[in-house]
Amino acid sequence: MAKPKILIQLDTDSHASVFDAVVAIDAGVEKLLQYSNVKPDDVRGLVHGAMYTRGPGDLNNTAIFVGGSSVAHGEAIAAAARDTLFDPFRVSIMLDSNGANSTAAAAVLCASSHMELAGSTSVVLGATGPVGQRVCRILANAGGRVYVGSRTLERAKETILQIANANVDPERLLMLESEDNDALEAALSNSQAVFACGAAGVRLLPTIQLIRARSLRVAIDLNAVPPAGIEGIGVMDKGVERSGRYDYGALGVGGLKMKIHKASVASLFETNTRFLDCDEMLTIGKDIVARRTFAT
Ligand SMILES: NC(=O)c1ccc[n+]([C@@H]2O[C@H](COP(=O)([O-])OP(=O)(O)OC[C@H]3O[C@@H](n4cnc5c(N)ncnc54)[C@H](OP(=O)(O)O)[C@@H]3O)[C@@H](O)[C@H]2O)c1
Repeated sequence: MAKPKILIQLDTDSHASVFDAVVAIDAGVEKLLQYSNVKPDDVRGLVHGAMYTRGPGDLNNTAIFVGGSSVAHGEAIAAAARDTLFDPFRVSIMLDSNGANSTAAAAVLCASSHMELAGSTSVVLGATGPVGQRVCRILANAGGRVYVGSRTLERAKETILQIANANVDPERLLMLESEDNDALEAALSNSQAVFACGAAGVRLLPTIQLIRARSLRVAIDLNAVPPAGIEGIGVMDKGVERSGRYDYGALGVGGLKMKIHKASVASLFETNTRFLDCDEMLTIGKDIVARRTFAT
């Protein structure tokens, strides 16, 4: 008889995320083991408990999910978990701290249904945060040029170095001081897409600047907390056409984000060797989009 699907939720916050727990159960997880406030030193012991309790033939029914609000802490936990594993005692691992991977993948896939990413230029505002960094990385790896926007050039520069460390061609990444209106307008007037990835409740782009940017084909605002990150985009907008531009709000992107999150969790149980980070979840998202297109 198949062993029940157990997901071990390693969360870096003081309370393991309820959101991630609900998605796990909706994705078919039969038993959820939650650990909160997890530090890198805790990981080895926790992962050993997953590796040695079921025989290698059953380890595809045990998996690890790393979450919490800090992506940097999550990355350290996921790396420690990965380093603990060895053949044949492996379990699959997924990292989606702060929903950053699933959200970034969904945002770029929404854009890609209206424009060719290869050869395109995009502006990413709030690009220094975990979601923005991943959006930049996905766009650049798809063959686009990306203005990496921050309130300060120093942070934009630091972020470009960090993104380049994740195997991205730095030539594709351009610094943008987003509070310099002339620089922002020049970047927008050159671009086919803008992504607002600023902190919750922060307005990054007023309507007037959006309207002036006539080359934009897509505008995506990931902030769900009023005021909108891009003035004039509704939180529920999902490919709403406005003068030849397709607009998405946070909840408009959220449906695909949820599908990617859920499908990623479900895929952990197909094998005991999977490691899902940004690129792997993007691949899962592409598959969802391709099947949806085929079905409609
Ligand atoms: N739809 C979903 O499912 C989903 C999931 C996760 C996140 N989100 C949303 O996605 C967005 C990005 O998330 P995140 O965690 O990456 O964001 P974050 O780290 O909180 O902030 C991103 C960037 O926003 C800029 N920023 C912060 N405060 C600002 C202010 N007062 N004025 C102007 N800029 C400011 C900062 O960049 P600089 O200091 O470099 O300017 C910061 O690095 C958020 O709005 C979040 O709520 C949505």
